[in-house]
Amino acid sequence: MWCFSQQRRFIHSSLCLLKKMKGKTPAEQRWLQRQLRDPYVKASHALNFRCRSAFKLLEIDDKFRVLQPGYSVVDCGAAPGAWSQVAVQRVNSAGTDSELPCGTVVGIDLLHIPPLDGAHFLSNHDVADPATHAKTWRGRFYSQGALWSVNTGMGSSLRNCSRNSRVCLVVFGL
Ligand SMILES: C[S@@+](CC[C@H](N)C(=O)[O-])C[C@H]1O[C@@H](n2cnc3c(N)ncnc32)[C@H](O)[C@@H]1O
Repeated sequence: MWCFSQQRRFIHSSLCLLKKMKGKTPAEQRWLQRQLRDPYVKASHALNFRCRSAFKLLEIDDKFRVLQPGYSVVDCGAAPGAWSQVAVQRVNSAGTDSELPCGTVVGIDLLHIPPLDGAHFLSNHDVADPATHAKTWRGRFYSQGALWSVNTGMGSSLRNCSRNSRVCLVVFGL
């Protein structure tokens, strides 16, 4: 019986894979295969995270405790919003725990970011644009309280790393 259901699941997932592969370039097919095998992708689906990057921030925060209840976070390059999901949980910006201070999460991206409870999103905004800053810490989001933390998920190469550092300085107005 167990074997039968396993077989059915295998056939079902193989058919789904074939369907997804249709019309894709070889590079896209390789990416899709990697995604489907990736344990973090599977776990992100199971835990309703928008993408696997959530686990990176969870790991960083478990180690360094950078996000505390009540903190304000600007998530630079936030789409699709996985880091913001983690930030909302950790700073209690949705007010899930009424005993803890309630934080703020603002996500900014050039792309559209689907809405998320506990986060304010500025879709189609450039983090380096002064008009964006006017809407964040100088505007209604940070009219009260201090800005504590900035997430940048805008790339992982050395070049991106130095660009991200510049973005942090710009966001903090330094
Ligand atoms: C790797 S993704 C971020 C993933 C995100 N941290 C998450 O966990 O869901 C990088 C994002 O940075 C955004 N980005 C790059 N340059 C940007 C800029 N100047 N202003 C706003 N967003 C930017 C891209 O549009 C892209 O969505």
